[in-house]
Amino acid sequence: MRRRDFIKGTAAAGASTLIPVGTISALLASCAKASAGKGWDFDAVHDRSGTWSIKYGRATDGEIPMWIADMDMKTDPFVAEALRMRLDRDVLGYTSIPAEFYDVIHAWQKRYHGFDLDREWIGYAPGVITGINQAYLTFTEPGDKVIIQPPVYDHFRLYIERMGRVAVDNPLIFKDGRYQMDFDGLEKLFDDKTKILLLCNPQNPCGILWDRETLATLAEICDRHGVMVISDEIHGDLALYGKKHTPFCSVSETAKRVGVMFAGPTKAFNLAGLSGTAYSIIPDKEKRDKYNGTLRNSKLDEPSIMTLVAQIAAYREDTAWLESLKSYIENNIAIVERFFSDHDLGIVPIRPQASFLVWLDCRALGLSQTELMDLFRKKAKIIPSNGTSYGPGGEGFVRLNIGCPAPVLNEALNRLLSAF
Ligand SMILES: Cc1ncc(COP(=O)(O)O)c(C=O)c1O
Repeated sequence: MRRRDFIKGTAAAGASTLIPVGTISALLASCAKASAGKGWDFDAVHDRSGTWSIKYGRATDGEIPMWIADMDMKTDPFVAEALRMRLDRDVLGYTSIPAEFYDVIHAWQKRYHGFDLDREWIGYAPGVITGINQAYLTFTEPGDKVIIQPPVYDHFRLYIERMGRVAVDNPLIFKDGRYQMDFDGLEKLFDDKTKILLLCNPQNPCGILWDRETLATLAEICDRHGVMVISDEIHGDLALYGKKHTPFCSVSETAKRVGVMFAGPTKAFNLAGLSGTAYSIIPDKEKRDKYNGTLRNSKLDEPSIMTLVAQIAAYREDTAWLESLKSYIENNIAIVERFFSDHDLGIVPIRPQASFLVWLDCRALGLSQTELMDLFRKKAKIIPSNGTSYGPGGEGFVRLNIGCPAPVLNEALNRLLSAF
């Protein structure tokens, strides 16, 4: 007897009733109905203490944590509804990556970033940093060099070193309040151990949206030296002020040849706690096959059901929640800018072009880095990220995570004022 006939037979005989677990598209369709009309309130303050939050785990004695890059707001209600609905079906067996995963990323890159890529370039990544680490295993040997452009996300250097590779600095140039890449400095760094340039696009902590010309030049230089560019685009969905994020591999044929991109809805939809809501885009077939092979060999190519559902739900067509979140972030940035222009404290915020992290230039205070951190943490009782953790160029700076309700941000700024 065929399995289907067996099931039908038993159901007909009343031995069991077939309960549909449902396809992803059916799930999303019913989720759209269930979450329709549900608004969002970014001003709502949620008590995250006792929730195993890394951010709040560091806060003691009533401190306001404004460091690690997750937001204090709820995720998109559509995504939350999709997760709830999937869980309601209770069957949580091994899961393969469905076609919808590739479809939504393909459509998203085209619609949201204007990148018309081939669907087959897309792969899974078990987190952006985990994906990058797999790329190190695939394309480099211990002792090989990876160039980074500080000030840059601290886990770039950390994981290069943890993976037994060597981080080489090509610091950004900061001039007249603007950051630029130092291409002359870069040209001098290459040697036969240099295998990768790790790009942060957009750049965390300074919030830079790199333009097409800069990215194309970077691709040309790296190509000339036989060096691959790995582009971390995790903040790319949060380009602000109507500006556009430029995916690295979209800028030229050379960039397609040398580029490996990692991205995900993690930051924009505040999904970090789900872990693994990420993907790769690798146009070059040889590189793609090698990377995917490494992932498979480590059994890192099997994301959880919830990770997949969240990712697919986030990248649907309707972006109303995301647009609204971005306006809220812009408003929070305006609060910060107004505060530092109203109060001449010697701190200048660098306006981010993307994401919810504000890079504060505190050099005019003339404090040592320890004194600066004490001012924020011990006196004001707020916890920013330490500028020096981002490498050279971070001295005299702190990074403030303003992905929080405006009432919390205002309280933090008032505390800072009282600390002077
Ligand atoms: C630039 C950048 N890349 C990667 C990550 C972490 O990504 P994941 O959690 O997917 O490893 C962060 C988190 O702050 C980040 O800012």
